[in-house]
Amino acid sequence: GKYRVISTKSMPGTRWINLLIEQDCRVEICTQKKTILSVEDIIALIGNKCDGVIGQLTEDWGETLFSALSRAGGTAFSNMAVGYNNVDVNAATKYGVAVGNTPGVLTETTAELAASLSLAAARRIVEADEFMRAGLYDGWLPHLFVGNLLKGQTVGVIGAGRIGSAYARMMFLKANGEQPVTWKRASSMEEVLREADVISLHPILDKTTYHLVNKESLSKMKKEAILINCSRGPVVDEVALVEHLKENPMFRVGLDVFEDEPYMKPGLADMKNAIVVPHIASASKWTREGMATLAALNVLGKIKGYPVWSDPNRVEPFLNENAPPPA
Ligand code: GLV
Ligand code: GLV
Repeated sequence: GKYRVISTKSMPGTRWINLLIEQDCRVEICTQKKTILSVEDIIALIGNKCDGVIGQLTEDWGETLFSALSRAGGTAFSNMAVGYNNVDVNAATKYGVAVGNTPGVLTETTAELAASLSLAAARRIVEADEFMRAGLYDGWLPHLFVGNLLKGQTVGVIGAGRIGSAYARMMFLKANGEQPVTWKRASSMEEVLREADVISLHPILDKTTYHLVNKESLSKMKKEAILINCSRGPVVDEVALVEHLKENPMFRVGLDVFEDEPYMKPGLADMKNAIVVPHIASASKWTREGMATLAALNVLGKIKGYPVWSDPNRVEPFLNENAPPPA
């Protein structure tokens, strides 16, 4: 292969590898056993010559890595994720590196996890499962694991983009012949916090959404509300959330993401009114293979000069495509 492309992690499927190999690329997949690569690990991987990198959301793609990639002759980076809060796009632009992400292919899969967590939280499924496995079930009782009926309740979406809208559609599913469910655009976040029985968070993470859900916003929510987060951990003040869960046993959360991933804030793991899963919202086979393929196409497109954004699967151009060329 004429071009050297690195993937910092092994990724599902083979299509992404074949696409690169067919187009003159030599693909190197990092074999390091550790889950999260450090900046130093990645600099070593990049070495002296590297045309493009497919990286992961656990990696810190800032000034140091983009300058190293640029020095190695690299012009392309793709995150294998739709979120790119781990990527300093301005630094990439400064070093002449195009940045891609993988939107679209994970929309429905992520929304399905948010919907699953909503129902699981409402019906206390994880708590009930633990109870059953612990051998505590000694007969049907009128009070056993009584939860919330979601029918007719108000669902709030904060961050109604691709994923948030798909989640809303799923939660509004109705049987044939029933009255259509109504929806409205809330006039403020305050209104959503006050009125919704279930709130699902789907914004991007940036300065404006950091701790969007904090002590104050939690206090405005209904005491028996359900909060779902499949976006990014720091959108929620997790310490305030643990306090709120302690004080409001009927308040429930379903979390896919955490502020200090992979760690949880102290006390969260002990809360029976919390369901916690390890950042798996996009984890369907179809989606993960699609994300890998899109990431490869992003890198390939830049290296070969293809207009990849004309691909029907591709809903965004390179994030910094319209940025001025490096000085
Ligand atoms: C996963 O969290 C993603 O942003 O794709
Ligand atoms: C419960 O199992 C019922 O039959 O109501």
